[in-house]
Amino acid sequence: MTLYKNKNKKKMHQNPHKSKSHTPVLQSEVINNVKPQKGERYLDATAGFGGHASAILGLTENYAQSVLIDRDEVAIEHLSKMFKGSGVSLLHQDYLSAAQELLLKKRAFDIIFADLGVSSPHLNEVSRGFSFAKTAPLDMRMDQRQEKTAGDIVNHTSEEQLADILRSYGEEPRFRQIAKLIVKNRPINSTTELAGLVRQAWGGHSRVNPATRTFMAIRIAVNDELAQLSKALPIWLKLLAPGGRIAVISFHSLEDRIVKQFFAGESGNRYDAALTLLTKHPVTPGPHEIANNPRSRSAKLRVAAKQK
Ligand SMILES: C[S@@+](CC[C@H](N)C(=O)[O-])C[C@H]1O[C@@H](n2cnc3c(N)ncnc32)[C@H](O)[C@@H]1O
Repeated sequence: MTLYKNKNKKKMHQNPHKSKSHTPVLQSEVINNVKPQKGERYLDATAGFGGHASAILGLTENYAQSVLIDRDEVAIEHLSKMFKGSGVSLLHQDYLSAAQELLLKKRAFDIIFADLGVSSPHLNEVSRGFSFAKTAPLDMRMDQRQEKTAGDIVNHTSEEQLADILRSYGEEPRFRQIAKLIVKNRPINSTTELAGLVRQAWGGHSRVNPATRTFMAIRIAVNDELAQLSKALPIWLKLLAPGGRIAVISFHSLEDRIVKQFFAGESGNRYDAALTLLTKHPVTPGPHEIANNPRSRSAKLRVAAKQK
């Protein structure tokens, strides 16, 4: 576990940090549903550029018993400057292994929050290979210490497996044609080469850039995003103190389905239900937020509380 702990417990001013690089999505909706209280312990599984963390910690003011996680080094460097001297713990690792270790240490939290997917700086930094707009190596790793890259998946996965990734993670209708073209044209070395093959498979029949779905599918596979979420949810439930709230923002229908089914399975009119749903339906951004931050378009927030 890579632990960055700021030893100086100097008290922070209310909401002292403003992220310059990533606009937090559904921020007031998170606060209104989670209702952070002074003194509560906060676990942010995907702290990113600290927008949500700063708003929530500004209300709880309990930095010393709170933990912020991100598997991306750039995010962790940003967070360590942003929260310097606050006493909050930063973990540079994936949220699943972090949750397992926190459980072993018998830690507990009153608020657990995950804002899934990539951040704007990921998408904007060409060299990370998340975007097909400019030429870059096929990377797409959130954690650059990880070995497996998008290039490994594109160049070394069987045609059948590639088609499966494109169909299930990207909901790509032309999954078979794209997988076939990829295998025929290997090795594929750059983002724009890959995007070109997807365009070829679509033959000009798509109005939006058809590479969006393929890139999302490969990113999900590289970072094992769905398995991370489905395995972490039951551990987060164990880490949650009685009366604690868990909130998840997802950007992909498969992620939202995992959260919805987990919450539904743990709630309901049963004597042993662990959770109470605080959002019956997912909370989505209004037209104003979507106009100001188009990335928020597909966001869905679900919140539940653990029984007391
Ligand atoms: C949408 S951003 C979070 C933005 C953050 N809420 C804010 O206000 O700045 C998602 C972040 O989660 C991180 N991330 C995604 N999956 C992760 C995982 N399995 N473990 C740890 N961090 C993860 C990404 O590196 C990225 O920085």
